[in-house]
Amino acid sequence: MSTSLFDLMRSRRSIRAYAGDPIPAETLALLEEAASLAPTSRDRKPCRFYTVTDKAQLAQLAKAKAAGSAFTAQAAAAIVVAADSTVSDTWIEDSSIAMTYMMLAAEALGLGCCWVQMHLRSDENGISAEENVRRILALPEQFRVVGFLALGQKEVTP
Ligand SMILES: Cc1cc2nc3c(=O)[nH]c(=O)nc-3n(C[C@H](O)[C@H](O)[C@H](O)COP(=O)(O)O)c2cc1C
Repeated sequence: MSTSLFDLMRSRRSIRAYAGDPIPAETLALLEEAASLAPTSRDRKPCRFYTVTDKAQLAQLAKAKAAGSAFTAQAAAAIVVAADSTVSDTWIEDSSIAMTYMMLAAEALGLGCCWVQMHLRSDENGISAEENVRRILALPEQFRVVGFLALGQKEVTP
């Protein structure tokens, strides 16, 4: 393992408050590339990555579960990891590794991010958080959503 990767792993923290600046499209593309480089069982690659920057959709994602996601409304972007469960039965593992690759890539790019869990969670009306994300992104039923990364520029403390 290179020293720089080890340093990134040491310095990374979950960031839930962001400076207001947008994230350049090429930076978001790099994060998607990082996610797509993650290994998957039998190389089935069941995951799709959906980058959300629309404020209204971010606000919807923030309410997809009852707690622990509200800060998404102030994020510059979210990258949702959705896996086709008919492609692979290891969608949880594959999605989680992709999330982890993206978290480390975000740290390498100087961005703040936080994993927001959807799988096994529900909103304040008891509706599955995964179902809410499928509705927000118009995804078919077989797509399972472990979670998404909320992302933004790190706030600079004076
Ligand atoms: C599987 C998983 C689910 C998580 N879900 C949430 C979440 O829904 N909301 C949240 O604010 N943080 C969430 N986190 C972030 C953890 O709370 C955080 O990683 C942990 O407290 C350690 O802090 P650190 O990331 O700063 O080292 C999640 C992390 C993981 C790995």
